[in-house]
Amino acid sequence: MTTVLRVVFDASARDADLTAVAATERLSHLGAEATDVDVDGTTCSAYGLFDAEPDDALETARNAFADDPAAYSARRLPIARRFDLGDLRRRPVTLGGVEILAPGPPPAGCGASRLVIEQGGAFGVGLHPTTAMMLVLAAEGGPPDTVLDVGTGTGILALAALVRGAHRAVGTDIAPAARVCARGNAARNGLDRLVVRETIPAGERFDLVLANVRAAAIVALMPALDATLDDRGRLLVSGIRFYEHGPVEAAAAHRGLSGVGRVLHDGWWCLEFAR
Ligand SMILES: C[S@@+](CC[C@H](N)C(=O)[O-])C[C@H]1O[C@@H](n2cnc3c(N)ncnc32)[C@H](O)[C@@H]1O
Repeated sequence: MTTVLRVVFDASARDADLTAVAATERLSHLGAEATDVDVDGTTCSAYGLFDAEPDDALETARNAFADDPAAYSARRLPIARRFDLGDLRRRPVTLGGVEILAPGPPPAGCGASRLVIEQGGAFGVGLHPTTAMMLVLAAEGGPPDTVLDVGTGTGILALAALVRGAHRAVGTDIAPAARVCARGNAARNGLDRLVVRETIPAGERFDLVLANVRAAAIVALMPALDATLDDRGRLLVSGIRFYEHGPVEAAAAHRGLSGVGRVLHDGWWCLEFAR
């Protein structure tokens, strides 16, 4: 199993940056994936993703920092949920109540709420943790009326919302190939209620705003995402590595948005915000 540890240092006793660098090196030597640091003035933290049971990971970290127990403490970050993603090549995957299929003859026993996704040159067939979390969390709270899907890729998130009963969806993507792919998937599924564009429409509000792009892009896009969010709407963002949530949460807070949910899966966060 995967365990995420956040190792926190008392920065008052020593140089915080140096301590954080030393700690990430130690975590890397212990086999932790993708270590990174943040420094907030009084403490600094290193994050490590361990392929181990929580107790084993904690003991390993404790032993590694045994030379300075007063300065270091390790804490496990919660992984709220796990998904069985299955394998699209062998069988459809049901995520958020929608069966996702690869093109081809549908396997026997498929339900009515199904979506055929051709990957083309775009991202998003449902197997990546960031997409899977978005599909599952977007399905909570009932079907929205209108959906904006920024970084739509194959169109999978917007199309799943339409399958679940949304009346209108707009998908945007900066990549021309993704826009072609998303339009193709909309036609393939008879869902021409998906409008695919390059940019976020100005002056329009949506009940559900989705953005599965990288953390830095979410931070940059936050004013535009906020401007399109209906007063009672939900904003779901994904594509955030396990150590990258701080700047995204700060950008949302800066716009007056509150964090109302967060899920960590396979080292990626999906964060939910509302007014
Ligand atoms: C990780 S894929 C997500 C695809 C799909 N929505 C999913 O959840 O599987 C990110 C997509 O966002 C697009 N993208 C990246 N930065 C963007 C931005 N600033 N505005 C719009 N699209 C962006 C990329 O071209 C890519 O197609």
